[in-house]
Amino acid sequence: MCGITGYIGQQQVVPVLLGALQKLEYRGYDSAGIAVLNNGELLVRKAKGRLTVLEERLAHETIAGTLGIGHTRWATHGEPSDINSHPHTDVSGRIAVVHNGIIENYARLKEWLQARDVVFRSDTDTEVIAHLINYYYQTSPGGASGGLLAAVLEVLKRLEGSYAIAVVAGDFPDRLIAVRKDSPLIVGLGKGENLIASDVPALLAHTREVYFLEDREVAILYRDHVDLFTEQGEKILRAPSHVDWDVESAEKGGFAHFMLKEIHEQAKAFADTLRPRLKTIAQSSGSTADAEYDINFDEITLDASWATAPRIVITACGTAWHAAMVGKYAFEHFARIPVEVDIASEYRYRGPVFNRDDIFMVISQSGETADTLAAMRLAKKGGARILAITNVVGSTLSREADLVLYTWAGPEIAVASTKAFTTQLMCIYLLALKLGRLRSLVSGTDYQRYLVALARVSAQAEMVLGKKDMIQRFASRQFNKHKVFFMGRLFDYAVSLESALKLKEISYTHSEAFAAGELKHGPIALVDENTLVVAIATQHELFDKIASNIREVTSRGASSLVITWEGEKGFSPIADEVFTIPKTEDSLSPLLSIIPSQLFAYYCAVQRGNDPDKPRNLAKSVTVE
Ligand code: AGP
Repeated sequence: MCGITGYIGQQQVVPVLLGALQKLEYRGYDSAGIAVLNNGELLVRKAKGRLTVLEERLAHETIAGTLGIGHTRWATHGEPSDINSHPHTDVSGRIAVVHNGIIENYARLKEWLQARDVVFRSDTDTEVIAHLINYYYQTSPGGASGGLLAAVLEVLKRLEGSYAIAVVAGDFPDRLIAVRKDSPLIVGLGKGENLIASDVPALLAHTREVYFLEDREVAILYRDHVDLFTEQGEKILRAPSHVDWDVESAEKGGFAHFMLKEIHEQAKAFADTLRPRLKTIAQSSGSTADAEYDINFDEITLDASWATAPRIVITACGTAWHAAMVGKYAFEHFARIPVEVDIASEYRYRGPVFNRDDIFMVISQSGETADTLAAMRLAKKGGARILAITNVVGSTLSREADLVLYTWAGPEIAVASTKAFTTQLMCIYLLALKLGRLRSLVSGTDYQRYLVALARVSAQAEMVLGKKDMIQRFASRQFNKHKVFFMGRLFDYAVSLESALKLKEISYTHSEAFAAGELKHGPIALVDENTLVVAIATQHELFDKIASNIREVTSRGASSLVITWEGEKGFSPIADEVFTIPKTEDSLSPLLSIIPSQLFAYYCAVQRGNDPDKPRNLAKSVTVE
């Protein structure tokens, strides 16, 4: 996720772009840049670091101009650096581009351009767009007279992936071109000025009249009007929309808090995590179920040593440790590799035993957690090869690990992790299934069935979110409970751990998770009429067992909620409430079963008057021991 903006009008563009980028900085903050058209010449300024670094640099010079584009970056391809920051320009330096999204076929396009003597300066996927526009600008029918739009339309035919793009060119001081597919882009319509941005708040200082660009629509912004086109170049006529959000709620996309926004972003985040790795190798019809898939990680190679690794060790903290717990069940279930999961802060002090053939995994949203880094460094010193799963490109973890899988969740602002967790799970499932297949432990048919199930998870997450009012109502009745216990077995136990952490960190309710079978060994002594017990029940073979556990707690006065599959009737007679999630494979359930718990924690926090985005005593990134 990155933020892009652009302006054409009467005002000096630099302060306008910087003002918009401040509003977009939540979308990415590892670097920022602008390009301004000044007397037919493009001036590009960019800097690694927060937007303030760029602002300080710009404070020392005057850049005049009334047309420009800007970008705030959340690195995906290429580490955060001045060079990799946007805007990117073509070889002539007369075309500048900013981009939010991922160009999946950029490697092929780069080779194609290099074969035509184009020299690349950055490691980004975006740079291919600038060079391609120049290529078609110079060579498309009609040559340069074909214009910028014709060149952009040619380029769109070649791009695969997601993008919101803005383009300016020295030869066209009267226009700015913008286009989107699968990444947001909004056109703001002002008086004598028009602008674009990835999100509404960046436009509100200028206008409330907007076009929400649809996928594959192209906008040409002039000073006095805006034209919209299809990607075939046909003109589109439609009325603008009026935005009446206040600025604060607009920053959160209309949601009351970043946490709620990020919970909702999980459906898209699943798709973003999956899309570059799930390859369609055959397609007999348009339906997901008829496709044949494989998993392919462009960023890592799973050589033969992966198939023969004797053990996987995973270390992490907090929510990431819970993802590791799901990983334990997933790797053992699909690939039959023994997995040891360790809390990173424990691992570093217990004199762990290394085996050079082990796969050592570290999981961290931020890639900066002190204990996780220390555990990784210890393992590395002992000769282990490290695979990191992280959300932040250029983080310390990503730089020091041997192999990196990015979760592509986009920036997570709320302290309580939600979309980072579920995308960590998605990466784990992809790895576990691929290893299972490499070790011939998952049959070809089962492999396809699981991959089809993964491809459906994004839509199923939307369905769970569509029923959030039920959870809100439930939370409004239960938020004052003194104790909330989550219980489950196997995958459901791992989800219980994460559910209890979510609830305690933002609602400050005393909540714990138990492996349901452990209840009788002690925890049941805590159960009374002030207790809510949430049972996660998605493992069919253990339904009878968990049903008994539910009876054990309700007969001692506890209220109960069961989270289970749609169509499961067995729990209604024994629980106070049942919340159902769409059916997927039992072994993939954590991808969906955690969402009701995230919502429950969120609504309890709100009911109790807490700020879920900034819970007391907690920090987003724990960079000290
Ligand atoms: C989760 O909601 C937390 N706030 C916290 O447990 C977090 O997961 C933990 O500190 C690890 O962070 P990391 O993923 O950035 O390493």
